Amino acid sequence: RNLKWMMECRSDIDRLNASFLEIYESLIPREEEKVKQKQLLALLEKLVCKEWPEARLYLYGSCANSFGVSKSDIDVCLVISDADLNKSEVLLKLADILQSDNLQNVQALTRARVPIVKLKDPATGISCDICINNVLAVVNTKLLRDYAEIDERLRQLAFIVKHWAKSRGVNETYQGTLSSYAYVLMCIHFLQQRRPAILPCLQEMEATYSVTVDDVECAFFDQVEKLRNFGSYNKETIAQLVWAFFSYWAYGHNYANSVISVRTGSIISKQGKDWTRRVGNDRHLICIEDPFETSHDLGRVVDKFSIRVLRGEFERAAEIMQYDPNPCVTLFEPY
Ligand code: CTP
Ligand code: MG
Repeated sequence: RNLKWMMECRSDIDRLNASFLEIYESLIPREEEKVKQKQLLALLEKLVCKEWPEARLYLYGSCANSFGVSKSDIDVCLVISDADLNKSEVLLKLADILQSDNLQNVQALTRARVPIVKLKDPATGISCDICINNVLAVVNTKLLRDYAEIDERLRQLAFIVKHWAKSRGVNETYQGTLSSYAYVLMCIHFLQQRRPAILPCLQEMEATYSVTVDDVECAFFDQVEKLRNFGSYNKETIAQLVWAFFSYWAYGHNYANSVISVRTGSIISKQGKDWTRRVGNDRHLICIEDPFETSHDLGRVVDKFSIRVLRGEFERAAEIMQYDPNPCVTLFEPY
């Protein structure tokens, strides 16, 4: 039944395309915003280097992976190599330094899962989270950004999916739904799986970039300017892809046995990863393998209640894409 349903694409799907592209364009941050982010980063660098001359700051997350919508907060990572470093002490010291320089709402959250300092810059209005030595996040940010350079349909699809997830309240890890990072990985994997493929698997190609971080080897092909035509045999449009993405997560994905893996560009089995039973709080009800920390399931936050909410939302979205006369409005209606 499902297979047949999935092949019956609506006849006006191309008409929808213009509307989806319009939504995408409206979400892209303007150049001025990027300039302000750079200004804030430069200010932070100046302050940090006074105390720790060897330290470096890196942008990561949506402000640097090219999946950030306008008016996003920025994520910054302070990289500091100090053998006997106490993260809490550094964070408290950092908060001190920033407080005395007119930044607002400076707060050190030393007990969070990822300890951070939060602040707001009154000059640019930008809020910012600073973490320490989270180098894997800086590297996975590069991987996402490199994928985005290969085919612009990735950015279009991910913006629509993130916008949908925020509108529908399913982008809240503390409520058991998925992070933006997880949604972007779902989009990359989905485009790797189209036939013809729209994205390659960079980690399976000859490595032109390689770093070892916390004993994890991160290696992939990063000369993406050579891959600009990779997806050109596939002519699917953004509306078709949004339709197929939600159909896949509503009716096509095997939740009982499958793990989606951007690292291998394929579906792998839960069995192979020993993700078949509940261990502690990890239930593996929807499995999304982190491309570098391969023991991390980004679906681990999902519990037996939120999986129903999530799958209900995938089904709602798939139905709307199939039957609703005005999907570009209905899809994003607040829940
Ligand atoms: N990250 C990670 N592992 C996770 C969650 C996040 O490594 N389980 C890192 C990734 O580098 C990600 C960044 O933290 O890019 C920020 O995560 P998130 O807030 O989910 O994504 P953003 O892209 O910043 O999305 P948003 O626009 O919603 O802020
Ligand atoms: Mg973010």
